[in-house]
Amino acid sequence: MAKLWQKTTNVDKLVENFTVSRDRELDRQMAAFDVLGSLAHTRMLESIGLMEKSDLELVQRELKLIYADIENDNFEIEADVEDVHSQVEMLLTQRIGDAGKKIHSGRSRNDQVLVDLKLFFRSQLQQVVEETQKLFNQLISLSNEHKDVLLPGYTHLQVAMPSSFGLWFGAYAEALVDDLEMVLAAWKITNKNPLGSAAGYGSSFPLNRTLTTKLLGFEALNYNVVYAQMGRGKTERIIAQAISAVAATLAKMAMDQCLYLSQNFGFVSYPENLTTGSSIMPHKKNPDVWEIMRGKCNRLQALPNDVAMMTTNLPSGYHRELQLLKELLFPAFADLNDCLHMATFMLQNISVNKNILDDPKYAYLFSVEEVNKSVLNGTPFRDAYKQIGLDIEAGNFNPDKQVNHTHEGSIGNLQNEQITAAMGDVVDSFNFKKVEEAISWLVK
Ligand code: ARG
Repeated sequence: MAKLWQKTTNVDKLVENFTVSRDRELDRQMAAFDVLGSLAHTRMLESIGLMEKSDLELVQRELKLIYADIENDNFEIEADVEDVHSQVEMLLTQRIGDAGKKIHSGRSRNDQVLVDLKLFFRSQLQQVVEETQKLFNQLISLSNEHKDVLLPGYTHLQVAMPSSFGLWFGAYAEALVDDLEMVLAAWKITNKNPLGSAAGYGSSFPLNRTLTTKLLGFEALNYNVVYAQMGRGKTERIIAQAISAVAATLAKMAMDQCLYLSQNFGFVSYPENLTTGSSIMPHKKNPDVWEIMRGKCNRLQALPNDVAMMTTNLPSGYHRELQLLKELLFPAFADLNDCLHMATFMLQNISVNKNILDDPKYAYLFSVEEVNKSVLNGTPFRDAYKQIGLDIEAGNFNPDKQVNHTHEGSIGNLQNEQITAAMGDVVDSFNFKKVEEAISWLVK
């Protein structure tokens, strides 16, 4: 199969394999978005007189059939076709002849892949938000349910002060609110239209970029065509930061889970079918899900570095290795969404130990409580502190293990309503509806 750009000479097979290799698989994931871009681009071409109405009708009809085939998993990039862009143009040309050859006026694969990526990233970011919301809801509900179940708090991994399962679950919920602020920043930068920048230097045709922006449901466009091309790499960097933020929260939670599942802690447990065994030690119920999650999410935190290393010294303009960013970002999204999903699933099955504090070593948790009681009875803080310290040294410390903190943000007042409202505000800012309406109109 001749390349789109091939004139007379055949490219060497080794070169072809080296430059395309894994790219076709990744392009397959962008196929639906490639068609959406072409649906918008060709409508725009017709509107400025660069495509006949009759050709537009043929092209739109055929593109929608290809879109349906992609959705039904009935689409492949053939072995000798360079990329998804070539595959779609080839199918069109095979099926409707010359009309198919007209769709690429005023476009380059450089802005075509940019728009495909932005549409793909938008859908992946939406999935991250939706999965994060589910996890958030699960955490808030666990937090409310276990509001009064005490949990030892640690500093330096040493017994510190009383905490609660309500605070622990709620902390991760609130972390996700801040993570989604990062995802929102990534969304805003992604949600700008690069189409019409062509190879990175615009076109002599009077392209209507505002029209394709509207048709594809973008919030705005990348106005400067050179900057639009610079968005390749920059968009990925910012998305990588957002992915890394969510991953950091999940990795920390996964570590807490592994620790709390250890017999030395015994704070939480899971049904046996959610743990894994050992081939030699018959007693084992290992927390493999959380360990795999910790590893994947730690690896995801390296993503901003990977993207930066690949793009940091590239001058403006298109460069072929930008294609490799797909190899970093696509699996990263898949891993993150998978981890979010698994975290929710696991937490639906968690049991918490309600008798942790029966263990005498946790009496120390209440040292500050005892000091504070003395302070309330009129003893200066430092004197009270010393006295309790001496009591502990003398083995004369028997607190009543009660906490009664009901002020803002304390054990007894988790402020989960406020945290939930903050989550609602962030999620509303994404305005997915506008995007969904635009896309469903384009393919209808
Ligand atoms: N696979 C290429 C990429 O992802 C498509 C764009 C090719 N453009 C070019 N000028 N060779 O970047």
